[in-house]
This record gives sequence, C-alpha cells and structure tokens, in this order.
Amino acid sequence: MKGIVIYKTKYGSTREYAQWIAQECGFPLCSVRQRLGRILADSDIVILGSPIRIGRVKIAPWMKRRWQMLRQKKLVVFSVSAALPDDPSVHDAWRQSLTEDIRAVCTCFSLPGRLVFDKLTPVDRFLMHRGAMIEGDEGVQEGMLEGIDNVERTLIEPILAHIRSLQA
Ligand SMILES: Cc1cc2nc3c(=O)[nH]c(=O)nc-3n(C[C@H](O)[C@H](O)[C@H](O)COP(=O)(O)O)c2cc1C
Repeated sequence: MKGIVIYKTKYGSTREYAQWIAQECGFPLCSVRQRLGRILADSDIVILGSPIRIGRVKIAPWMKRRWQMLRQKKLVVFSVSAALPDDPSVHDAWRQSLTEDIRAVCTCFSLPGRLVFDKLTPVDRFLMHRGAMIEGDEGVQEGMLEGIDNVERTLIEPILAHIRSLQA
C-alpha cells in the first residue's frame, strides 16, 4: 500500500515527528507548501501532521479544501501542541477545527510539542506573552514564557502501530 506523510509546521517540531514516521514507514515526506498532485492522488494512506495554534489545528483548512480527494484515503492525523495530549484544550482544538463528519473518518493522535520563547517571531512572542498574562494555571504560564520541549521519537509508536494495522 502506498503512503505519504504531509506536514505543516512553523518551528519544526511537527516536521520532526513527520520525518520519523516517514522514515519508519518508508513513505515520502512532504510539506503542505509543495505541489502534491499525483503523489497524493496515488497514495492509499495519508498521514497528516499539524501544530495547534491559538486553539486551532492549523492543517484543517488545507484538509477541507481537498476533502473530496482525502475522504477516499485511509487518513491518520496528528496534532502537536504545547498542551499535553490528554489536556481538554487539545480535544477542543480538534472539535473547533474540523467538523464531526471529517473527524469521524480520520484516526486522530495528539503529540506534545516544543516551544522555545527566544526563537519565536516578534508577533508570536507578543501573542504568547499576552496569552501567558491571562493564563490562570501557573505551570502552563511558566511553560509559555520559559519554553517546553516534550518532543520524543518514542511517542510516535502508537501511530506506527496504527499504520501497520492499516497495511495488514
Ligand atoms: C503563537 C502560538 C500559539 C500557540 N497556540 C497554542 C495553543 O492554542 N494550544 C497549544 O497547546 N499550543 C499552542 N502553541 C504551541 C505549539 O502548538 C507548539 O509550540 C508546537 O510544537 C509548534 O509546532 P511547530 O514546531 O511544528 O510549529 C502555540 C504556539 C505559538 C507560537
């Protein structure tokens, strides 16, 4: 079965996870910025990776624009976020970004990401600073300003197991 891993990223953590998955599965790795035409049309399994930013799964508009084609594929979607995977805000972001119909045919995974305050663009630094000011949870506030790094290769294991089950 042919597969493809497609990612959207701003600071690289989603690409890192996508690259590991592509390596393990032997699938090509592509960015949403590339022209995917034939390579996407010919794939049976499509794995999509996206950061969550400001409460939204950022790849959602890209998916919606291609839904007529994507709905014919076996779809695996993973999000990458500062919030830990079991945090309710992650679930909310999925619900806010994709309709129930779309979520019903995707297998969704959530992975923890990386935030390095000093590497953010000035606009993102401002947004993060403003967000931290209104954040009630001190631990989350600290992570927003001092940074976090929860990216780990072993966390892709459940995704790999699911992809193997699709190939079986
Ligand atoms: C401006 C901005 C907004 C963000 N908004 C959220 C958010 O709403 N929820 C969350 O859990 N993480 C949020 N994050 C953290 C990112 O999801 C996290 O840093 C992720 O690893 C980034 O992925 P990337 O490295 O592929 O760009 C935000 C980060 C930035 C810079």
